[in-house]
Amino acid sequence: MSKSTSKHWRDLDSQHHLHPFTNHKSLRASGATRVIVRGEGPYIWDSEGNRILDGMSGLWTTNVGYGRKEIAEAAYQQMLELPFYNTFFKTTHPPVVALSNKLAELAPDKLNQVFFGSSGSESNDTAIRLIRHYWTLKGEPKRRIIISRAMAYHGSTIAAGSMGGMPHMHKHSYPVYEGFRHIIDPYWYGESKDGETPEAFGLRAAKALEDEILAVGPENVAAFAAEPVQGAGGVKIAPATYWPEIQKIVDKYGILLLADEVITGFGRLGTWFASEYYGIRPNLITFAKAATSGYIPLSGLLIDDKIVDALMSHDDDFNHGYTFSGHPVACAAALANLELMERESMVPRVNTFGAPSLARMLARFKDHPLVGEVRSVGMLGAIELVADKKTRRRFADPGRVGLICRDHFFNEGFIMRAVFDTMVTAPPLIWTADQFAEAETAIGRALDKTLSDVAGEIAA
Ligand SMILES: Cc1ncc(COP(=O)(O)O)c(C=O)c1O
Repeated sequence: MSKSTSKHWRDLDSQHHLHPFTNHKSLRASGATRVIVRGEGPYIWDSEGNRILDGMSGLWTTNVGYGRKEIAEAAYQQMLELPFYNTFFKTTHPPVVALSNKLAELAPDKLNQVFFGSSGSESNDTAIRLIRHYWTLKGEPKRRIIISRAMAYHGSTIAAGSMGGMPHMHKHSYPVYEGFRHIIDPYWYGESKDGETPEAFGLRAAKALEDEILAVGPENVAAFAAEPVQGAGGVKIAPATYWPEIQKIVDKYGILLLADEVITGFGRLGTWFASEYYGIRPNLITFAKAATSGYIPLSGLLIDDKIVDALMSHDDDFNHGYTFSGHPVACAAALANLELMERESMVPRVNTFGAPSLARMLARFKDHPLVGEVRSVGMLGAIELVADKKTRRRFADPGRVGLICRDHFFNEGFIMRAVFDTMVTAPPLIWTADQFAEAETAIGRALDKTLSDVAGEIAA
């Protein structure tokens, strides 16, 4: 496609399309930066023919990469066979049955039932309702408070946005939907005190849960909700002491544990679900994104036997659901995606190849003058950009340098996302040594260019 075709799409986009999470005034002035027209394997192409290595899997989503015909074929066949039917009114269909069974097989022990939706936000809303319904069924209706964490991202609906801990997400729905509390996130690099080890910090961050339970009264607390690795908050990886301590506290007070695995589900940490990786026992797991590798929207909530037993032992409706809960085409695409991941051993390959390659690649930049810390787990990684490596001092105007760096990545033909001044990556699980080498070159160049842009602000 030509430059004039790109301009055509950009101009039309400005006229009628409002983008998510956008400063609309500034986007209207600048127009969309790129028009993405095609994807194949680990790459996407823009309308001017530039090939770009996608280090974000779209949006933490395309775990199997782009252009897999098996998924497209399964969706096409299902559209011809039965493009839609609802799962209300005591009806079901083969794809939803097959996918529910497959997910129960892959999910951690005891999580044997699935409630479907079309987005992570929707499924977190399902979780919030179900958690409160559960406690009502158990005769403890006062247990309504859900504790989650600062900077958590659980979605954009009013309930999921309230459960999330990003202040800018609470801005438009003030007053925030009631019954949520937020504790410190286990972000050692940003939140630890001078000299505090990751292990000690991990225990302190977990202890914040117990403090909050006691502050609001254990009899009022329904659940703790968290992402096993905080993704959109900046790929914040909890120290090793954190999750075992959280599990102990959850058990001690008998509250439910909701693991939001919208990012970490389906192999990103080298296990089907990150809950297995961290050895935690959630009662509920939300998933979305990589369930279909993003080829079509589908999300869900995995629910454990304890909650299902409560539902089964009461003659009471759970009044909740979506037109597209268990959409047949989405279920068929998800099944094809999961089969593909199994056939190509993508999940174990994260352990043997992807995770060590990502860690090695990021480690090469830890001595760069701009870089305060690099970290990774599985196929999730982050680079902290700081003005002073020694003191971890940030740049003035948080996010400014991150955006400069992100633009340099883009110009190098590589995508990483900026969370303020933390550069994050979530490559598809299919990267080979060639893509790691390509990413390493792009990161090195982009960091050097960013450094020259902000050289005057760096501590000597
Ligand atoms: C951990 C987590 N939960 C929930 C969501 C919301 O998912 P969706 O955008 O599909 O509503 C996201 C989206 O990025 C997420 O990262």
